[in-house]
Amino acid sequence: LYQLLPRDPSLPPVVFHWIPWFGSAAQYGQDPVEFFASCREKYGNVFTFVLLGKRVTVTLGPKGNDFVFGGKHTVVAAEEVYSSLTTPVFGSDVVYDCPNEVLMEQKKFVKVSLTTDKFREYIGMVDDEVTQYMDNEPPFRVFQTGSTTEWGSFSVYKTLAEMTILTASRTLQGKEIRDSMSKGFADLYHDLDHGFTPLHWMFTNLPLPSYWKRDDAQRKMTDFYLGIMNKRREGNPDDYDDVMSSLMRQTYRDGRSVPDHEIAHMMIALLMAGQHTSSSSTSWVLLHLADRPDIAELLYQEQVEHFGISGGDFREMTYEDMKDLPILDAVIRETLRMHSPIHSIMRYVRSDIPIPSSLAAPSEDNVYVVPKGYTVLASPAHSQLDPLLWKDANVWDPNRWLDKVGFAAQARKEYDESSQVDFGFGLVSKGTGSPYLPFGAGRHRCIGEQFAMLQIGAIVSTMVRKVETRFEGPFPKPDYTSMMVTPLQPCDILYRRRK
Ligand code: HEM
Repeated sequence: LYQLLPRDPSLPPVVFHWIPWFGSAAQYGQDPVEFFASCREKYGNVFTFVLLGKRVTVTLGPKGNDFVFGGKHTVVAAEEVYSSLTTPVFGSDVVYDCPNEVLMEQKKFVKVSLTTDKFREYIGMVDDEVTQYMDNEPPFRVFQTGSTTEWGSFSVYKTLAEMTILTASRTLQGKEIRDSMSKGFADLYHDLDHGFTPLHWMFTNLPLPSYWKRDDAQRKMTDFYLGIMNKRREGNPDDYDDVMSSLMRQTYRDGRSVPDHEIAHMMIALLMAGQHTSSSSTSWVLLHLADRPDIAELLYQEQVEHFGISGGDFREMTYEDMKDLPILDAVIRETLRMHSPIHSIMRYVRSDIPIPSSLAAPSEDNVYVVPKGYTVLASPAHSQLDPLLWKDANVWDPNRWLDKVGFAAQARKEYDESSQVDFGFGLVSKGTGSPYLPFGAGRHRCIGEQFAMLQIGAIVSTMVRKVETRFEGPFPKPDYTSMMVTPLQPCDILYRRRK
C-alpha cells in the first residue's frame, strides 16, 4: 500500500514489489535482461528497484550507459559496490580496496605488460596449450583413437574453463603458476572461486564452509605468489619478463615501490577478472558455431585461406594475422553482443545526482534526482539486445558486423558516433554512450580486452581447425545465477575430428 501513496516527484518510479526488503531480487536474479525490458515497458528508461534492502536506480539505453560509465568517480563510485565481493577474494589494498586514484595507477602498471610485443609471444602459447589439451585430455577421446568419423562430445563450459585457466596461466600468470597447475594451484583456485558468487557478495560473512575455504585459499594463494617473488629475487629477477616481473619493477607516483602483497593480490585479481569472462564468452562462441555449421564452415575456410599450407596443414598464427580475420572478429563481436558476461554495471551514489532530462524526466520543467546512498546501474547487456536498437536483436548474426545492415538506424548512428568503428581485431567502442559496451567504458574500462580477444580468437581458431561441431536440442539459456552469464548446464557439444 505504501508504494501506492503519492511520492516525491523528483524520485524515479519504484518497481512494484510485494516483500519490502527482498524487493525485486527474485525477478532480477533470475533474468535481469528480461526484468529490465519488462520494467521499461511500465516505467520507461529510468526506474528504481529494491534489491535486498538496497535501492538501485537503473538507467537504460545508450544514454543510460553514458550516465553510469561517464559519471565522475567522486559522485558515482565502484568501490562501495564491489568491494564486499572482491576484497576477500583478491586481497587487501588493490582494485576496490584502495582509493580510485591508486586503482588507476595499478591498472597502468598491468597495462605495461599487455603490449603488442607480449601478445606476439602469447598467441603461439595459447595455440600450443589448446593443442596439448585436445591431444591429451579425456573429453577429446577421438584424438587418441585418431578417428575422423567417430563423434564424441565435450562439456563446453567445463572444457573452456580448463582451457582458459591453462592459457591464462601460461601467458599472463607466468611459468611458475603454469607449472603448479597440476600441483595444487588449481585446487586453491577452485576454493577461491567458490567464494566468488552473488551469495558471497550480498552476505560477506556467513558461517558456511565456502567462506572459510575462500579465506584459506586467499591466504595460501597470496603466499604462493610471495614465494615466487622471493625465489626470483634469490636469482636474477631480470631473467623474467612477465606481468609479475613488470609489477616488481613499478613505482607509484609518490615514489613508493609496489609492496609484494599488493603484487600478489593484483595477480589474483587478474586471474579472477579474466577467467569467467573469457571462458563463458568462448563457450558461447563454440555453442553458436556448433548450432550454425554453415557459419563454422565459413570460419574454417577463412582459416584455410589465411593459414593453409601444402599437405593440409596450417602455418603458425601471428598476432598480426588476428587483425586480418573479419569472420572470426565478427563471430566474437556478435557473441559478446548477445552474451556479455557482466550484465549489470553498478556504482554507489556518493551525492545526490540529477538525471539528464534527455534520458528521462518526470515533466518538462522538472528532473529526476538519484539520492545519495542509492546504487545506479547500467546494463550494456540490455542495450545490446534491445529490439529498438538492433535488427533481429535476438538472432545471432555475425553478418551484421561485416555489412552493418543488422543495426537499426538509431543504434548504428549512436554506435558510430560514440565508437571507433574499426573492424580490425580487438577494437571496440571507446565512448561511454554506446549501445555496445561488452568491455565497459570510462575509468573502470576493462584492461584485459585485447588479451581476451586474442585468447578467445586463438582458442576458437585452433579448435575450429581440428574439429567439426554440432549442437543437438534447444539452444541453452543463459544462467544468471552465477557471477558471470554462463550457458545453463549441462551443456555438451558434439565434435568430430576433421580429416
Ligand atoms: C573491467 C568485461 C576480460 C581485467 C571490466 C569491465 C567489464 C569487463 C564490463 C567494467 C566493469 C565496470 O565498469 O564496473 C570483460 C569481458 C572480458 C574481460 C567481457 C572477456 C571476454 C578480462 C581479462 C582481464 C580483465 C582477461 C585481465 C587480464 C579487468 C580489469 C578491469 C576490468 C582489471 C577494471 C576494473 C575497474 O577498473 O574497476 N571488464 N573483461 N578483464 N577487467 Fe575485464
